[in-house]
Amino acid sequence: MSHSSSSQAAEAVSVFSPLTLPNGTQLDNRFAKAAMEENMAAPGHLPGQALFSLYDTWADSGCGMLLTGNVMVDCRAMTGPGGVALEVDTPLEPFKQWARSAKKGGAKLWMQINHPGRQVYASMGGKALSPSDVPLDLGKHSNLFPQPAPMTAEEIDDVIDRFAVTARRAIEAGFDGVQIHAAHGYLLSQFLSPLTNKRDDQWGGDIQGRSRLLMEVVRRVKSVLPATAAVSVKINSADFQRGGFEPEDAQQVIVQLETLGVDLVEVSGGSYESPAMQGRTADGRSLAREAYFLEFAKAIAASTSMPVMTTGGIKRLAIAQQVIAEGVDMVGMGTALAFNPHLPKSWKTETEVVADIPEVTWSDKTMAALATMAIVRRQLQRMGKGKLPKSNSSPLWTMILDRIRLMQLTKQYRARYPEV
Ligand SMILES: Cc1cc2nc3c(=O)[nH]c(=O)nc-3n(C[C@H](O)[C@H](O)[C@H](O)COP(=O)(O)O)c2cc1C
Repeated sequence: MSHSSSSQAAEAVSVFSPLTLPNGTQLDNRFAKAAMEENMAAPGHLPGQALFSLYDTWADSGCGMLLTGNVMVDCRAMTGPGGVALEVDTPLEPFKQWARSAKKGGAKLWMQINHPGRQVYASMGGKALSPSDVPLDLGKHSNLFPQPAPMTAEEIDDVIDRFAVTARRAIEAGFDGVQIHAAHGYLLSQFLSPLTNKRDDQWGGDIQGRSRLLMEVVRRVKSVLPATAAVSVKINSADFQRGGFEPEDAQQVIVQLETLGVDLVEVSGGSYESPAMQGRTADGRSLAREAYFLEFAKAIAASTSMPVMTTGGIKRLAIAQQVIAEGVDMVGMGTALAFNPHLPKSWKTETEVVADIPEVTWSDKTMAALATMAIVRRQLQRMGKGKLPKSNSSPLWTMILDRIRLMQLTKQYRARYPEV
């Protein structure tokens, strides 16, 4: 039974009810701003004015908890050239200021921490690590990504250390918790999936072996944090690819995470190859039109006492309420809060407001996914400049501008690391 329904009368729980996590943290309500990589870092992969302004806006969103976009544990393995990285020697003051901005309205703030593994752009250079040597298959777009090298034992140890360092420093900077990103085809998700993890050592094989790295990371992160800091994990319900990570695997991972005392598990799905988190799958399996992963999250919530959150396709209050009514503890929203940054607050009085999200209906799925991301990122950049979001941007034009911006950032990134 889920944490909320076991501890509170199910009928009394609403999306506006508080939630107490296993570590004692109290969240004011069940809304979370999900992680969205901003790609808006100041030089040196540091939070700067653009991120402070953006999180100033979300501080007043009405969410009980805000998750940052993924922060890299290694600046030589980044999901994008404008990303934030927090390493052992990174100056902490910008992170303190970021935390102060985001926490102004009383929401709890968690840093999502990530290693991209093989999902790094070839144009950036740097490390392309993965459990095995399986490259990304994006059809004619595959050459955007490099051939990954199977990780050595030393590289695996280094990654575990890095997650712990980043987590420890996030809490030192004033963040209330961390979320370990083990979804969407990034490194930890690559280890979980039999499609990308072909290892025959202790880090591969059955789900016990494939989940070992995630469990080691969680264990190590918890060991360096105070008990008051929240530790969350984002996992895929499935890869949505034939022969990939399946809901039965996710259930086994959940059992282990619960044993380790994780405070919240966020259920998502997919990867760059199968963008289920955008509601589209590569294996043709259909997802709900809204709250894409609700059925999976519901099954997980029914089997664990760990609080469960689901993210993906939520933009109406009625759907958010349905998520909670079905026994899932929290509602994560990303895109909706890029276009309507104060949505949960608005819903207190205007229950019918629907997030104004434009849809990209191009037939090239990879391009449509990239354009969707570009349009969302454009709104984050606008808020970073103190402007309001604008939902009628042209997808093609926005994508062209986004490409130019990313090329410039990539050039700056490569100039910073001339050795590769
Ligand atoms: C621009 C953009 C950046 C994203 N970056 C991240 C990220 O850094 N970490 C993550 O876990 N998910 C990331 N996501 C996925 C969202 O957290 C979420 O799972 C997905 O967008 C589905 O939720 P939504 O329909 O509410 O947006 C990103 C999504 C978008 C649109």
